Amino acid sequence: MAPAPSSPSSPDSSSGPARLVVLVSGSGTNLQALLDAIAADPGYGAEVVAVGADRDNIAGLERARRTGLPVFVCRVKDYENKGGRAAWDVALADAVSAYQPDLVVSAGFMKIVGKEFLNRFGGRFINTHPALLPSFPGTHGVRDALAYGAKVTGCTVHFVDDGVDTGPIIAQGVVEIRGEDDETALHERIKEVERQLLVDVVGRLARDGYRIEGRKVIVP
Ligand code: GAR
Repeated sequence: MAPAPSSPSSPDSSSGPARLVVLVSGSGTNLQALLDAIAADPGYGAEVVAVGADRDNIAGLERARRTGLPVFVCRVKDYENKGGRAAWDVALADAVSAYQPDLVVSAGFMKIVGKEFLNRFGGRFINTHPALLPSFPGTHGVRDALAYGAKVTGCTVHFVDDGVDTGPIIAQGVVEIRGEDDETALHERIKEVERQLLVDVVGRLARDGYRIEGRKVIVP
């Protein structure tokens, strides 16, 4: 296993595959796309070392278990009488830290992390969102684009900052909205593009490194 890189904003590919911790809350098809890409290509440049979730009994965790990966669950409600959201944030950061990740990937993780998590993982925490940011941030990106009457939407892979889906954009994919679309159909088409985008982005960041200059993400 490769050690954590010396620079937090650029995995050191010379010391082996970048270590990924993936966070999920649901079906985990984006996680599965990463696992499949890693299994298919020895030169992919990254490996998943653990999968975390904010709830139990979800398909995303089952996918990880089937692959033999360590999993952890960190539920906000377990911290209600033990320091609340800030304590949950520290616990999540501790759980992720235990696996010494180079990159942390929020792949359908439906929680906003706090200060402590960002202190430790800012600049190496990426999220995938089902809309073309900065349009339609938040929990209902697909529904909101549809309701607005937008003609195109898509997905955005970005670094996480202290706003809601406001961090520097790494890559985006475009999906046309059809007249007959409902939220489910549109989200499915977005996810087809999103899974490939996430696989491409994570591989490039892991293999080639990157730097963040203001809002710009530069991948050499
Ligand atoms: C993805 O479309 C992801 O963009 C979205 O949840 C889905 C997870 O799918 N995330 C958000 O909406 C975060 N705001 P998956 O569990 O099948 O990978």
